[in-house]
Amino acid sequence: MSNREKIIVLDFGGQYNQLIARRVRELGVYCEVKPYTMPIDEIKEENPIGIIFTGGPQSVYLDDSPKVDKEIFSLGIPILGICYGCQLIAQLLGGSVVAASDDNAREYGKTNTYLNPDCEIFDDIPENSSTWMSHGDYMEKVPNGFVNVGHSAACPNAAIANKEKRFYALQFHPEVNHTEYGKTIIKNFLYKVCQAKGDWNMDDFGKITIQRLKSEIGENSRILLALSGGVDSAVLAALLSRVVGKRLTCVFVDHGLMRKDEGDEIEATFKSWDINFVRVNTEKRFLDKLKNIEDPQEKRHIIGAEFGYVFRDEAEKFGITNSDYLAQGTIYPDVIESGEGDAEVIKSHHNKLLPPEVIARFKGIVEPLDLLFKDEVRALGRNLGLPETIINRQPFPGPGLAIRIIGDVTQEKADTLRQADYIMREEIANAGEDKNINQYFAVLTNLRSVGVMGDGRTYDYTLALRAVTTTDFMTADYARIPYDILDRISNRIINEVKGINRIVYDITSKPPATVEWE
Ligand code: XMP
Repeated sequence: MSNREKIIVLDFGGQYNQLIARRVRELGVYCEVKPYTMPIDEIKEENPIGIIFTGGPQSVYLDDSPKVDKEIFSLGIPILGICYGCQLIAQLLGGSVVAASDDNAREYGKTNTYLNPDCEIFDDIPENSSTWMSHGDYMEKVPNGFVNVGHSAACPNAAIANKEKRFYALQFHPEVNHTEYGKTIIKNFLYKVCQAKGDWNMDDFGKITIQRLKSEIGENSRILLALSGGVDSAVLAALLSRVVGKRLTCVFVDHGLMRKDEGDEIEATFKSWDINFVRVNTEKRFLDKLKNIEDPQEKRHIIGAEFGYVFRDEAEKFGITNSDYLAQGTIYPDVIESGEGDAEVIKSHHNKLLPPEVIARFKGIVEPLDLLFKDEVRALGRNLGLPETIINRQPFPGPGLAIRIIGDVTQEKADTLRQADYIMREEIANAGEDKNINQYFAVLTNLRSVGVMGDGRTYDYTLALRAVTTTDFMTADYARIPYDILDRISNRIINEVKGINRIVYDITSKPPATVEWE
């Protein structure tokens, strides 16, 4: 590992920080995210070929906002600053950053931006393109030694560069897909500025992780794996069975809030693998706990905790002791959206909500995929030889239909939603659209409205259809499903599912919405 070229991403608390790392790895360069407090000596020891400063929620001109030691600018290492990171470079090197007033330089969303093609990090991209902006402060004065290489209508200094020192600062976010040529910009930074050769791929990740876990877990300990049946935990099952063999027990908790037939399908798939597989049916246990609970975060906390208690009970049953481990297929978006580090809580993913007494019950929690994004997990799954049917399964959140039923969750609502969701999925698959859409499902809203069916008045629930295209699930676009397919879904659901009299289609992207409604 030590000879491998590396990029260090210094984390200032933005939502997209691991996405930067993900982009860098995707472009073939190994990359690690480190806290912004990483001492300069450690940075030197790591010998990175480049450093990236991330975005963050604070304002650089405040005394207590995160800063770096100015010595970092004397290391001779190229630096790319993004959003907060860009403003930090400006502020620390003698420029100035100020708060935008409402009508001046504050930007949020896709923004047409001019990028100077003479600047090497903008090679191979048109002069005008769309970038993703998300800032309330802006660079007012460019530091000495830098030149302006980009602007938008509202933001005079959207990109600045000091070619001699190899420092580049971008007000927009090149790491998100909404920035049209973002990936090319990062590629140019890596290959044209940092002179990367590109010596990293997911195969290495699998090999390195298996070796590391073998030495950490040892020859005797067992692992209880929380298997949801989705791609993340399935990939983890394949990985861990290479680490501990039959000392792995995979527990699938069917909480009764799965999609139609899903529990049986998961059982059939994993029973055919050469692993210890256990299915636990706990429908009543979860529904009782969720009774009259309406708040989304409360639902998530209850479900996360209950999963933990079921794993603890199963561990007792199978003689798994406190010298053994609990493993979860947590991936990076679960971690960041649950608000770890300096990031804001967006929603707490179920696998980050284990009660402390459950954690204490095991020697440790094994989450080796927690720095990866969904598409990286899929690439790893392919390297481990998993079938495409598992790799391409659309994601299904751990809390299941509980977070797709807005308001309180009942058995009756779950049955209604299951039926409607099945029809939507069937029609999308029949139309062959399942290959173009990365996740699609129905949401039972808590809204009832008046309708007319036959000759009578109805007062029933509104169902929302949600379908998105995305690669990393950190950002997503709503899918442009053809009207005739929407028509068929709507007609069938209204005719076949009792209790629903209105269908709406969700046309928001992420951000500003999220994929799930809760
Ligand atoms: P959001 O709604 O956060 O969803 O935009 C992004 C992706 O994460 C899935 N998701 C979850 N997956 N446990 C999971 O395993 C959870 O608690 C959870 N919440 C959301 C969601 O389905 C989408 O694929």
